[in-house]
Amino acid sequence: MKGEYSSFRTKNTSFMAQFKLKINGKNLEVDVDPQTPMLWVLRDHLDMVGTKYGCGIAQCGACTVHLNGVATRSCTLPVSSVGGNEITTIEGLSENGDHPVQKAWLKIDVPQCGYCQAGQIMSASSLLASTPNPTDEQIEGAMNGNICRCGTYTRIKQAIKEAAKA
Ligand code: FES
Ligand code: FES
Repeated sequence: MKGEYSSFRTKNTSFMAQFKLKINGKNLEVDVDPQTPMLWVLRDHLDMVGTKYGCGIAQCGACTVHLNGVATRSCTLPVSSVGGNEITTIEGLSENGDHPVQKAWLKIDVPQCGYCQAGQIMSASSLLASTPNPTDEQIEGAMNGNICRCGTYTRIKQAIKEAAKA
């Protein structure tokens, strides 16, 4: 994948480029260094702060978004690698917070501090899109990269099963 962009050099000689991105069904443009991770493009340049920073090295899952529907760690996804692929963030998962996974999260009352939960929901919704009735092993396999320091894992699994019923 190669990003669609035109490039130029700024006065301080750092390399900047213009990228056209499809995010949450909208066509957006940003001028950033091509190596900028999508996490920071979302948070710092597009003011979409629902996607969280945890580790920055693809080890915690807090920054999970969908890339063409697949759960992807945005902290290690350079903007230049996105190209015309569709990104969905927690802000774009549903119009009114009524995605089946979001409804199940509310019903089971999953969050504790909440910090990891956007990433958890994005991983869970990606799993259910590809595997509507996951087994325990499939849930564990899909979710084991999403860390929750509050230990909400049991409720997360319950909520995924609840969402699967819908
Ligand atoms: S911030 Fe991306 S996986 Fe931790
Ligand atoms: S709810 Fe606190 S880190 Fe997961």
